[in-house]
Amino acid sequence: MALTQLDRDIQHTLAGLSGVERGSLKNAVILITGACGFLGYFFLHLLRQFGKDLGIKKVIALDNFMLGTPPWLGKFKEDPLFSIKNFNVIYDDIAGIEGAERADYVIHMASIASPHFYRTYPIETLDANIWGLRNLLDFYKKKNPRGFLFFSSSEIYGDPDPVSIPTDEEYYGYVSITGPRSCYDESKRFGETMCMLFAKQYNMPIGVARPFNNYGPGMKLTDKRVPADFALAIFEGRNIEVLSSGSPTRTFCYIADAVTGYLKILLYGKYDYFNIGIEKPEITIQQLAEQYVRAGQSTMGYQGTIHYGTSGDPNYLTNNPQRRCPDISKARRILGYNPLIPVEEGIERFLCFISKTDKSEYYW
Ligand SMILES: NC(=O)c1ccc[n+]([C@@H]2O[C@H](COP(=O)([O-])OP(=O)(O)OC[C@H]3O[C@@H](n4cnc5c(N)ncnc54)[C@H](O)[C@@H]3O)[C@@H](O)[C@H]2O)c1
Repeated sequence: MALTQLDRDIQHTLAGLSGVERGSLKNAVILITGACGFLGYFFLHLLRQFGKDLGIKKVIALDNFMLGTPPWLGKFKEDPLFSIKNFNVIYDDIAGIEGAERADYVIHMASIASPHFYRTYPIETLDANIWGLRNLLDFYKKKNPRGFLFFSSSEIYGDPDPVSIPTDEEYYGYVSITGPRSCYDESKRFGETMCMLFAKQYNMPIGVARPFNNYGPGMKLTDKRVPADFALAIFEGRNIEVLSSGSPTRTFCYIADAVTGYLKILLYGKYDYFNIGIEKPEITIQQLAEQYVRAGQSTMGYQGTIHYGTSGDPNYLTNNPQRRCPDISKARRILGYNPLIPVEEGIERFLCFISKTDKSEYYW
């Protein structure tokens, strides 16, 4: 059978792992919170396709479906490798989840990542990163998991001084404590402090990932992050609408590269924190829109153009970082992380996935 775009992406992710890293997943029970969001989609599909080859024993996938239940989840409910549960990390008792105490690897991703939606649910976002994380750390501190991965964010750096771009892990951050993004940024920062303290006090192998702008298969097109918004316009055959001057810059890391980095942190087995992204190219939002137009033309016969507008949300641009670009030399040096997919190729891959996959996988 011909390989799909998602198959190729998953193969790319696994090719970035060493034999030793792949071997450490043998017989593993993996527990994932926030398992049914964007990154969760990619993790779950990877584990479904290669779980048997990797010798994985069980995947416990938890989510509270606060923004709806994805239609693609059905196939996982029928697969005996997976146990999918409606679980709120803030209030529900992890001890009540069958097999949770035997988890070898824990991945804590539960927390809305789209700025539009975390501003809509600020307290829930704060609580998932603070109480949700604390509940998991308390439960696992004496259970000796082999790896515990906390998803922090590049947003902990706020809007860095230009001299701190590219931003390395030792930059303290320039972050508003009371702005519309602070529910997210500050709870990720406090979450990182908790990870450091539990790692020291209980000798836990906690890895902290700081993702920098991922995009690609798994992203719900109605998610309101910029790469999803642009893909949605192309999918619907509309003009792309840029809701800023188009001048802020970012580097965009394709999901297939990023997940290699996340798995490497999980399997590292020691406390540390890492930027996971790609260093270049650092492009403006306008250039990103232009690349979407070009990729849309070649993959989907897109005929739209770029328009400039303003968001109806008064907080859309408040405290929006002007530049975001990671220094990933630490992950390169310690983990052997080496992202390979430049943004123009990643956008083509993403649009190719959209054009050839049933819309229930990305549009709901
Ligand atoms: N995707 C990125 O570029 C990016 C960048 C920086 C940080 N991150 C972090 O990575 C993690 C995953 O990101 P994503 O893009 O998949 O996010 P997402 O918003 O697509 O998915 C998050 C998932 O968490 C679930 N969730 C939220 N609160 C919960 C709770 N209380 N209990 C259980 N489940 C809950 C949601 O229902 C959703 O399915 C998040 O912690 C996010 O902050 C992602």
